[in-house]
Amino acid sequence: MSKVNLAIFFLICPLADIACAQGPAAGIVQKMEAACTRVCHGPSLIAQQRLDVAGWTREVNKMVGWGADIAGSDREELSRYLAEMFNNTRPRPSSAQAAPEGKAKNVFQTSCLGCHDVTPTARIKADRAGWMRVVERMVNWGAYIPPERKEDLIDYLLTNFAQ
Ligand code: HEC
Repeated sequence: MSKVNLAIFFLICPLADIACAQGPAAGIVQKMEAACTRVCHGPSLIAQQRLDVAGWTREVNKMVGWGADIAGSDREELSRYLAEMFNNTRPRPSSAQAAPEGKAKNVFQTSCLGCHDVTPTARIKADRAGWMRVVERMVNWGAYIPPERKEDLIDYLLTNFAQ
């Protein structure tokens, strides 16, 4: 379990806004942000994919074809990085689309449904302090929540998964 979650921690990082950009892949992560996740679509579209290097190479080339600004010399590294992060060895969030509507739905989907579906969340009855504790525990597991969306996420959890 902990091995799997450690792996997941590294999968979650690139979804971040990007706090994990200190590692060896920092350069390519920043380039990916500049060319991909801050331009036409957010990171969740990438995180939903489960492709190998060949698949990611096709995706990268397709995006370049559509105008993504990725230098030829960076494309291979980016494809390899994406294949490491978003491949089919990670658990599939079984009901990622089944999250309730709300202001922080996208944060919940991106930050909370990478490791498990909504089931454990739907089981919890907690007040605000209780949800804060759950969220902190998930952060310790490796969840990343953009700091400026944390309050929204707590509100969302409180509203949708009642006390
Ligand atoms: C990095 C993987 C990971 C992410 C991301 C993650 N979780 Fe979890 N979650 C776990 C693991 C592992 C457990 C089981 C261990 C535990 O309960 O601490 C768990 C358990 C839970 C539980 C059950 C806790 C209990 O007391 O029974 C809830 C509720 C929960 N997660 C909610 C969330 C929410 C909300 C988010 C988003 C903020 C989130 N999770 C993101 C890994 C993750």
